[in-house]
Amino acid sequence: MTSKRKLHIKSYGCQMNVYDAQRMVDSLAGEGFVESASAEDADLVILNTCHIREKASEKVYSELGRLRAAKTEAAQNGREMQIAVAGCVAQAEGDEIIRRAPVVDIVVGPQSYHHLPQLIARAKTQGRAIETEFPVQDKFGVLPQPAASAIRARGISAFVTVQEGCDKFCTFCVVPYTRGAEVSRPVEKIVEDVKRLTDNGVREITLIGQNVNAYHGEGKDGASWPLGKLLHRLAEIPGVARMRYSTSHPRDVEDSLIAAHRELPQLMPFVHLPVQSGSDRILAAMNRKHTARDYCEIIERFRASRQDIAFSSDFIVGFPGETEEDFSATLALVTQIGYAAAYSFKYSPRPGTPAADMQETVSTAGMDERLARLQDLINSQQSAFNKAAIGTTMDVLFEAEGRVPGQMVGRSAYLQPVHVMASPDIVGRVLPVTIEKLERYSLFGALASPVSTVQPTPFQMTIGA
Ligand code: 5AD
Ligand code: SF4
Repeated sequence: MTSKRKLHIKSYGCQMNVYDAQRMVDSLAGEGFVESASAEDADLVILNTCHIREKASEKVYSELGRLRAAKTEAAQNGREMQIAVAGCVAQAEGDEIIRRAPVVDIVVGPQSYHHLPQLIARAKTQGRAIETEFPVQDKFGVLPQPAASAIRARGISAFVTVQEGCDKFCTFCVVPYTRGAEVSRPVEKIVEDVKRLTDNGVREITLIGQNVNAYHGEGKDGASWPLGKLLHRLAEIPGVARMRYSTSHPRDVEDSLIAAHRELPQLMPFVHLPVQSGSDRILAAMNRKHTARDYCEIIERFRASRQDIAFSSDFIVGFPGETEEDFSATLALVTQIGYAAAYSFKYSPRPGTPAADMQETVSTAGMDERLARLQDLINSQQSAFNKAAIGTTMDVLFEAEGRVPGQMVGRSAYLQPVHVMASPDIVGRVLPVTIEKLERYSLFGALASPVSTVQPTPFQMTIGA
């Protein structure tokens, strides 16, 4: 009997990478690999990288520097350690990684994870292996690769990839180059995944994709289904207490998605809808193909569909050509919308993107100053949003025990962590909580009604009440 080999994966960046890491663990389990928490004693270390902003890829090279020492030490002890770079940096800079980091044995792009076992073998015999090609898609954009192996349930909440890639070509963004064209998974495959997850105790699913609302997967009827229709189908699966989706593009918001927020109580009223800038001039230079006004109108349509809906967004400050006036338009848009949360970044030129050829006009100090002003505004909106929860009763999906003995923690519809004193058997249930106080980003409260010992399943409990 061969002994188990140890695999350590370190993921950077987005939820898609978290999900991909799981896919890699699953596909390598068949090869006798077990996951290990430490890199030092691993036989295979995979850095699952992100290329979205500059610091992200620099982190990879410094991590590789650290791994070189671990690899040398392993070799001194007569043990081979293989190092693989996966994810978007691998896709975008594969050849450069091979050149710059001799410690790397394998470079594998996101479309090729199912070939990892062969790449590992090839690296052993030939020294190094690299695979970053995009496979050819069929008319529905389906890739000719085997379906991802069983998704393992990790607790109460799980991510399910429904779509990958992006055709939007925002001028600052590497995703269309690293993740390729928009591809949607067929409806029935997603239904199978979700059923398997709920059978394993998952109560919340987040459908993910770089452009999730560009979803156009093939339904059982042979037609192309939009995201709204997919959500309706998934809502029929017993056990699905909550559904979310991320990340959406304003251009792909269809009426059926907006209507789904009115029609499906399981669909959480919290939408991540990045706008990037509030200036039409900058939006045009970014190739976003929508104006600030278009965006505000979409937000209004969502609000008309479900009045308790809240939004988060992404912003970039210091895009080439951004003037103080453009930046003020961003602040004005944030003030007009009122976000529950938002992420903001300093512009970073990404090699190979159209914006990388544009003249940068905002100094680092200028970007720092704009970022600080934007983040102050966003933080004040976020704390106002969190404060508004105090005194209200909100549904919470309980996930785990808290840090304090006897404490349980769950999440509100808006992903706020909520703590209560309760027994551990509430894990997996959606229960109403009366919120008493806010500490930083966490809410604290008490269960609004005594929990019955005869436990109805969570999705019967409060959904649709
Ligand atoms: N510079 C700064 N931020 C970027 N993002 C994407 N590309 C860049 C870049 N070149 C941000 C966008 C996107 C988020 C995931 O990362 O705001 O929505
Ligand atoms: Fe990048 Fe724009 Fe596609 Fe989002 S929509 S992944 S920002 S190109």
